[in-house]
Amino acid sequence: MKESYKRDGVLVLENFSSPEECDRLINQMKEIVSDFHATQKPTVFSTKDQKHAKDQYFFDSAGKISFFFEEDSFDAEGNLIVPQSQAINKVGHAMHDLDPVFKEYSHQHGFEAIVKGLGQEDPRIIQSMYIFKQARIGGEVGFHQDATYLWTEPNTVIGLWVALQDATLENGCLWGITGGHNGPMRERFLRMSDGSTQKVKLSDLPYEEDKKVPLEVKRGTLIVLHGAFPHMSLANRSAMTRHAYSIHVVDGIAEYPMNNWLQRPEDMPASGFVQVG
Ligand code: FE2
Repeated sequence: MKESYKRDGVLVLENFSSPEECDRLINQMKEIVSDFHATQKPTVFSTKDQKHAKDQYFFDSAGKISFFFEEDSFDAEGNLIVPQSQAINKVGHAMHDLDPVFKEYSHQHGFEAIVKGLGQEDPRIIQSMYIFKQARIGGEVGFHQDATYLWTEPNTVIGLWVALQDATLENGCLWGITGGHNGPMRERFLRMSDGSTQKVKLSDLPYEEDKKVPLEVKRGTLIVLHGAFPHMSLANRSAMTRHAYSIHVVDGIAEYPMNNWLQRPEDMPASGFVQVG
């Protein structure tokens, strides 16, 4: 496992979670969404508009369970044109600490064993995301490397992405460039001192997009992503949703810079794996 991760930058582990475990997370997220009453105008997860308010909502989500919406789910006036339960792009970034079901799942020994096996000495779960990839409106996520957003010195971030539903070519499975983690980091996403964010280019080398391969997987499959592994997903125009849950883990012995967008609240530092349940 170690060798193929080192070579490819990605691991695909089938049957990591049972259908029952997947359903437990899906149902818990259903509860979370139905309990959620928008107290403010929803923050669309895109690069357009309301930059400052959006940035603040995004920063605050580091220690919360926050909701990010699909762009195509609003009309020009900002009114929802699909039911709220189908309009959410993702929920993040701290349900692994704040929600009992997600906490228990995220802190499972299997995740800890994997990241330690891949070289982390003091693993810290830095964020969690529930990704909906909604039927018909689930947007494309372009090529990126996760370390762009979760920078450490040296690069230690590992993404653990679990398909809660089958991920297919039709519903927007992940795609990646095998071995592409050996290339340079292309960008870094910075939190500026004035409260804005900025993407800084680090390398002009384009991704070898013609080499991308689909990571079509059955539900319950865990995909382990090296922080420099280039990956993307196409839009979902099918009638099926493609729910996934991911956590990102960094090594506590690496430096975690203050200008990463994600800064955990002082009273809620990123924890290591703890026994839950
Ligand atoms: Fe990613």
